[in-house]
Amino acid sequence: MKEFLEWASPGSEEWQTARSLDPTRLPRHIAVIMDGNGRWAKKRFLPRVAGHRAGVKPVREIIEACCRLDIETLTLYAFSVENWKRPHSEIETLWKLLRQYLRAELPELKANGVRFQTIGRIEALPQEVRDDIDNAIVETAANTGMRLNVALNYSGRSELVDVVNDLLRRAGKHGAPQRINERELGDLLYTADSGDPDLLIRTSGEFRISNFLLWQIAYCEIWVTDRYWPDFRTVDLLEALLDYQSRDRRYGGLSNRSSSTTREAAKDEVVVVND
Ligand code: FPP
Repeated sequence: MKEFLEWASPGSEEWQTARSLDPTRLPRHIAVIMDGNGRWAKKRFLPRVAGHRAGVKPVREIIEACCRLDIETLTLYAFSVENWKRPHSEIETLWKLLRQYLRAELPELKANGVRFQTIGRIEALPQEVRDDIDNAIVETAANTGMRLNVALNYSGRSELVDVVNDLLRRAGKHGAPQRINERELGDLLYTADSGDPDLLIRTSGEFRISNFLLWQIAYCEIWVTDRYWPDFRTVDLLEALLDYQSRDRRYGGLSNRSSSTTREAAKDEVVVVND
């Protein structure tokens, strides 16, 4: 947070809004459903892919802002399992943009100490896209700053199916476990290293989860803005954070304790209840 205030121009809207935030109560993990690229383009009488192109700028901006705010993990929903239903040319453009982004931004990601990772069924992506992804993962693996998860060919349901298949495979090798608890299941998810998101942001005004992180968002705070993703800016992120800090996270309990304390309590409770 200190770094963000030093970086933002004093007196700017970002700087003013950031100063209203409590640096001790920021979310550890933010997840974003980047929606509205197509409608952004349609409003301007442009092809849908122009919306995706314009969506790269806020990707850059939000990653940089989250780094400077000391957010531990940022997870961006870039391509769902269901997105394969789109025209081939649109899908091709999305891969091209991802590859261009990775090539152009890798030095910046490294300079900011970002650990780049993906979640989803990456094996189904074109080989050249996987090569660029693998390169970015390897090049940033030793970084200790923010974890950036990009969800590609991701769906919450397919993730859970992958967990079950993983368990069945292990059962075939080592015998079936008698039972499994929530923590153990969480350790088999793509996000095992990231923990659950505290805040889910969705752009373009839709109140939908769209098969994103179904297990992980059990107690996540949700913030929706009417803004289309290409128009989303750092100040919108800061507004989401302000709103997040006004929430009373009770995890089904009654107390109004600090969010991190409550989060730890909820984790322990989960294990006791399900063991
Ligand atoms: C949803 O808008 C957006 C997507 C399916 C793709 C997101 C991709 C980007 C932001 C560009 C590049 C990403 C990276 C990580 C470099 P939509 O097309 O569903 O919009 P609509 O609902 O208005 O049609």
